[in-house]
Amino acid sequence: MPDEPNNKSSNGGKATGLLDKVQQEARDLKEMFTEKAKADLESLKEPEKTQAFRSIFRVKHDETPRNRALSVLSNVFFHLHPAKVNRDAVRYSYTWGMGGITFYLFIVLTFTGVLLMFYYHPTKIQAYRDILYLHHDVPFGQLLRNMHRWAAHLMIMTVWLHTFRVFLSGSYKKPREFNWCVGVLLMVLTLLLSFTGYLLPDDQLGFWAVTVGTNMARATPLLGHEGPFGRQLGMTPFNDVRFALLGGSIVDANALLRAYIWHCIAIPLMAAIFMGLHFWRVRKDGGISGPSPVMLESEIKDQKGPRPVIMHPSGMR
Ligand code: HEM
Repeated sequence: MPDEPNNKSSNGGKATGLLDKVQQEARDLKEMFTEKAKADLESLKEPEKTQAFRSIFRVKHDETPRNRALSVLSNVFFHLHPAKVNRDAVRYSYTWGMGGITFYLFIVLTFTGVLLMFYYHPTKIQAYRDILYLHHDVPFGQLLRNMHRWAAHLMIMTVWLHTFRVFLSGSYKKPREFNWCVGVLLMVLTLLLSFTGYLLPDDQLGFWAVTVGTNMARATPLLGHEGPFGRQLGMTPFNDVRFALLGGSIVDANALLRAYIWHCIAIPLMAAIFMGLHFWRVRKDGGISGPSPVMLESEIKDQKGPRPVIMHPSGMR
């Protein structure tokens, strides 16, 4: 039979062994955490090497052409832009920036328009009162209304200037014929946005402008009762295109409601869809037209073949 002290020492030995093990594990853990803290501290110096950074930006951010292109292609916001652009084609002196400014104004109009919708009711009783209320009582109401109005005027100007630039630079030619047609549609939609918005304050200016404008619709070929072949097709003042636009034969409550719905929902939606198509086509047609690419002097050192046009880094030739 084993004696007691031996028994004790064997139990005590077990306990000491367990304690040693726990202590060793605690030391290992402490060492591990210290190492980790040190590594975390180091990573703050080079955040782009951390896993967190790599999980967001999936490619290296150094200056090689391949990685610059990859970082554009692998980012949901950047990839809307082409990976490479012809430096000369995006010069303001070439595009006048008019397409971009037109788009920017469209965004401003959408934003201010939605805010205006919080205060405006398209009814004969309330419409004009809402405008007065906006002008005199709503905080920043006058600013809001004027931002919308001025942006609308500006958009008409910039869309014409953009068309003029596209025409001057011959950008309607092959392969951009289709995009020119999309552009013409955008122009019509922009003018219609302006026209339908004009009636909404329900003031004298809007009322008479829409009266004159829709009177012209009487003379639409085939669809207007005074237009060529209109009568032959059975058009009368009560079923022709003017009647459809106004929701009646005079400019009244129905016309206001129709103008409101076209202005706030249908036309902006169509314009947004066609703008998406327009931008997509600009890329698919080989980017913005523009003169043949030029290179910086620093880039042509190792270039073989004919000497390309040289551009000074400042952008001057
Ligand atoms: C809401 C109206 C419009 C918007 C927002 C818009 C926007 C743009 C933008 C951002 C570009 C890129 C180049 C630049 O900024 O000049 C562009 C190019 C172009 N746009 Fe428009 N545009 C509109 C209306 C029009 C109209 C009315 C036309 C012609 C009738 C048109 C025809 C073109 C063509 C052909 C190009 C390609 C030009 C090139 O490659 O040089 N666009 N548009």
